[in-house]
Amino acid sequence: MKLLVFGSGRGSNFQAIHKSILDGTLKATIAAVISDVPEAAILEYAREHNIPEFAIDKAGLERDDHEMKVMETVQQIEYDLVILAGYMRILSVVFINSLEKPILNIHPSLLPSFKGLHAQKQALEAGVKVSGCTVHLVNEVLDGGKILDQVCVRVEEYDTVTTLSDRILVQEHILYSRVVQDIIDGKILL
Ligand code: GRF
Repeated sequence: MKLLVFGSGRGSNFQAIHKSILDGTLKATIAAVISDVPEAAILEYAREHNIPEFAIDKAGLERDDHEMKVMETVQQIEYDLVILAGYMRILSVVFINSLEKPILNIHPSLLPSFKGLHAQKQALEAGVKVSGCTVHLVNEVLDGGKILDQVCVRVEEYDTVTTLSDRILVQEHILYSRVVQDIIDGKILL
């Protein structure tokens, strides 16, 4: 299974996926990493590990024009599954359809609760006692595609956005690789 990864930031979920590949628990390969932020750490990590990486700067471009540039690059890449790992763009329907392969995303809440930005802050403000993370299919609705798997994380009295985010992130790193392997094994059907 060849993974095409999109990310805009530090890329810790991508690193976790790459480590699962290296230790043999995830039977996949990374086709390439694409970022809309040229200086993103996710690209630096890919470079250091000889993974094909492409920076397609979003600066100064309308969404449609940026997506067209991304598609030009994507067309040179062979892949089976798209992995969004902290990709801070809302994908247009046209772009989703032109990728032609399933697209996965990881979100730091138990969807359908707390969609969009600052999910951990939303959870704290709502006073929930359990939050977590979700891997879901991407469709045209923000954080609205089919839920593939979730992990719960307890919210403690002393939690801040940082402490809660950190504990959820630990679970994200385990969950994302597991879901991809479950797809490969046919345990999760897309
Ligand atoms: C993660 O919290 C993920 O759930 C959300 O964006 C963050 C990305 O972090 N979609 P990283 O770039 O993978 O470290």
